Amino acid sequence: MPGVSVFGAQWGDEGKGRFVDFLASEADVVVRYQGGNNAGHTIIVDGVTYTLHLLPAGLLYEGKLCVIGNGVVVDPGSLISEIELVKSKGLSVDALMISDRAHMVMPYHKLLDGISEDNAGEAQIGTTKRGIGPCYTDKAARLGLRMCDLLSDNFGSKLRSVLAQKNEILTKIYGQPPLDADSMIDEFAEYRDKLRPYICDTVRVCYDLFKSGKKMLFEGAQGMLLDIDFGTYPYVTSSHPTAGGISIGTGLPPCAVTEVVGVVKSYTTRVGKGPFVTELHDEIGERIRQKGHEYGATTGRPRRCGWLDLVIVGFAVRTSGMTSIALSRMDTLGGFDKVQVCVAYEIDGKLTRDYPASLEQLAKAKPVYKEFEGWSDDISHVRRYEDLPKSAREYIEFIESETETPVDMIGVGPERSECVVRRKYFE
Ligand code: IMP
Repeated sequence: MPGVSVFGAQWGDEGKGRFVDFLASEADVVVRYQGGNNAGHTIIVDGVTYTLHLLPAGLLYEGKLCVIGNGVVVDPGSLISEIELVKSKGLSVDALMISDRAHMVMPYHKLLDGISEDNAGEAQIGTTKRGIGPCYTDKAARLGLRMCDLLSDNFGSKLRSVLAQKNEILTKIYGQPPLDADSMIDEFAEYRDKLRPYICDTVRVCYDLFKSGKKMLFEGAQGMLLDIDFGTYPYVTSSHPTAGGISIGTGLPPCAVTEVVGVVKSYTTRVGKGPFVTELHDEIGERIRQKGHEYGATTGRPRRCGWLDLVIVGFAVRTSGMTSIALSRMDTLGGFDKVQVCVAYEIDGKLTRDYPASLEQLAKAKPVYKEFEGWSDDISHVRRYEDLPKSAREYIEFIESETETPVDMIGVGPERSECVVRRKYFE
């Protein structure tokens, strides 16, 4: 039975939510495996917009199992608010499961994320300030508190011991007042009561679902160039959005993933700092931003915009073993006379199609473009590939031949139904 992974093949915000939503209709279970509420997946159904930060997109369908895996970092207060919001819109969260191994984003993580960013000057990363980096740091430093700790009688003493260390940093390094352990313990006791019904051993649950042949969908957050290993380090997030993150973030064997769908926006965007070779600082970049409402779903920050960069997509194909491309926002890119696609970088007079590790090399990289005729922006009614304008098909077929990966889904508008689908994933 296929295990389908949907992940972002650029810097996040590729429009994964709508493809996950589409595929979730056919899956038995939807699993998140990394990131936290730094993500923002927007799904529009019958004119109603749902922006999910931590909850898997499967919740929009009655009865789908939804798993928050061990690789996700969970801010309990924010998750509870999201659960309440979703319930107020008439949706059920009865099928939600949260890994007892998932680490919790604590109040000091958020505080330290904000303070260290504000103090970083030129070295700012432009994080979402949701405490994601500090939480993963504590996980690696073996100082983290997990969901199973929340349920334990020893939670108070564990928290006190970690908080003593964090208060040293807050007071001595940053000159901040210390955080109060008692009130934090009370706050988390409330979270425990609300989250207890959902916390379980999702490693066992996922394995049993996999063994019994259930259709599993893995929902990635952020994008491959924000991956801590393959991204534009240090301008990255602290987890593994690439398909390789699934095994570690769920406990499933790698063979549980049989299809890897990379979501590629038909142009490129990035939020926060860091290199961006095809960034447009002109009126075309501004036009894409306005037309595509390119403002962060989590932070509201304007996104940087530029042409599609196939050097990035090629890197995503290789590092995640992409078997399929879901191309989003072909409607947004419509209406331009000409569109450009970057096929290589020129660095010190040499051409390369490999994405450099070094920021210095990236700073020198000049995009080598191939130009295409534009197409009409009135394509939201199109449901069959053959009905797309010829120039749009030429653009798509070029992406396929350059990346050696089929473009199987094409977003032509924001609504759930506004999509061209060329194959089935869950047979
Ligand atoms: P953090 O994940 O909050 O630590 O932020 C690290 C970097 O990842 C920053 O550049 C953020 O703007 C970026 N980032 C984090 N989550 C997302 C996302 O969901 N979409 C796009 N960029 C993101």
